[in-house]
Amino acid sequence: MTRTLEPHLVERFRDVVGGDNVLLEPDAMASYAIDWTGRFKGEPLAVVRPADSAQVSAVVAQCKDSGIAIVPQGGNTGLVGGGVALSGEVVVSLRRLSWIVDVDPKGGQLTVGAGTSIADVRAAASLAGWDYGVDLGSRDSATMGGTIATNAGGLQVLRHGPTRAQLLGVEAVLGTGSTVAHLGGLLKDNTGYDLGGLLCGSEGTLGVVTAARVRLVPPAPERVVALLAFSTAGAAVDAALLLRRGLPDVQALEFFLEAGLALVCEVTGMRPPFAEFHPAYLLVEVAAQHDPMVATSEVLESIDSVSDVAVAVDAQRRAQLWRYREGHTEAINTLGAPHKLDVTLPLPVLADFIDEIPRVVSGADERARTWLFGHAADGNVHVNITGVGSDDMTVDDRVLVFAAGLGGSISAEHGIGVAKRPWLHLNRSVTEIATFRALKKALDPAGILNPHVLLPPL
Ligand code: FAD
Ligand code: MLT
Ligand code: ZN
Repeated sequence: MTRTLEPHLVERFRDVVGGDNVLLEPDAMASYAIDWTGRFKGEPLAVVRPADSAQVSAVVAQCKDSGIAIVPQGGNTGLVGGGVALSGEVVVSLRRLSWIVDVDPKGGQLTVGAGTSIADVRAAASLAGWDYGVDLGSRDSATMGGTIATNAGGLQVLRHGPTRAQLLGVEAVLGTGSTVAHLGGLLKDNTGYDLGGLLCGSEGTLGVVTAARVRLVPPAPERVVALLAFSTAGAAVDAALLLRRGLPDVQALEFFLEAGLALVCEVTGMRPPFAEFHPAYLLVEVAAQHDPMVATSEVLESIDSVSDVAVAVDAQRRAQLWRYREGHTEAINTLGAPHKLDVTLPLPVLADFIDEIPRVVSGADERARTWLFGHAADGNVHVNITGVGSDDMTVDDRVLVFAAGLGGSISAEHGIGVAKRPWLHLNRSVTEIATFRALKKALDPAGILNPHVLLPPL
């Protein structure tokens, strides 16, 4: 039976956020109810859209008093089912908190509302003569709050680190309804616990992030992008190491395989990059203050294992090469909602994992098709599996156990969400999980913040 929000709570939420910002009808809530892949579909009790942190605080306090669970939601581009109301929670959408203030061009910092898209943060940074260190394919929709909640990685981790490395402080509403804020932006500030660092990666389970102070990085406007083809994944992984070591200005080192490239070309209508397909590809971006072409060419020429190469300098051609890599997520989704298993491996076993994992998957389910791509320098493989039922977790189990057995992590950058919480124990000890629960109890004593995410049920 579908639950409905009690009338006095509807009125209370309307008083706080305004009538237009309390959504109750299924049609109005539809885009908030289903995740980007289409795999996770919830039935929210309501969608509430506060406009500032005071409104977030009032909404959270009311939910705590009424014992109503909340799912915080940003751009709804998350890939582990953590941002949709799978158990009839209230979705608190942060998208209206979209603003950027206190841009400090001298210090290279800015303060940003949780609902601001990463594309807008990057544009504001650029206007101030800087850049923002995180970039990802979902940049137009993914929000600052969502990327903090998931500690998003993306395409430049190699150079600038993940979202956590950009944070100078956050403002967040805890499960009690009270607000913690530390947005001064001091570069050195050893005055106690790093609450921003704790909230980063907490997937909406400890607090609702409302704003952040982030560091900016120097711009690197001169760019070269090269697409390299190899006869084996191992050769691509080895080349990534040489490129990383030989080019201090390397910004991205991304890999994909023959089948994924063929699918991207089929779905998008793009022409393949080379006359022939090759088993493995590496996309390299070098970004510097001064033209990096000479240095890049020298290192590329020293790598004997390259079977084919395309180099792009002008913006249009660079974007074209990037589309072969960034097009994977959408192209795979056209085959039906995939199981998305985002793992990291120690670099010495990365190539073995890439070679072995399709057999591990087909051994678990012969209908399954495996697609592999990811962030080579980070050891981060996106194992996407199509052709198996949404609720059949056999392949998930095999992949995650295999990755953890090789010393890897079951979540490189997307988080645990609901999709992977049964496997958290593969990476976290009993004591660590108990400590996580104690932290949750302290920050969210009523257990209303994303209660079905990250931590396994007791
Ligand atoms: P949502 O999807 O809305 O939420 C994600 C999680 O954060 C949920 O658990 C939610 O409850 C919580 N949350 C959201 N906002 C808040 C808040 N203000 N306070 C507290 N909790 C909150 N991810 C990467 O790491 N690297 C990539 O390269 C990458 N590329 C992508 C490419 C595509 C095409 C797509 C569709 C996704 C990609 N992602 C990537 C995944 C996704 O974009 C990230 O996980 C992103 O950080 C989610 O941001 P969001 O605003 O959409 O959050
Ligand atoms: C990527 O690197 O493209 C993203 O993390 C999205 C995905 O895994 O599909
Ligand atoms: Zn990724």
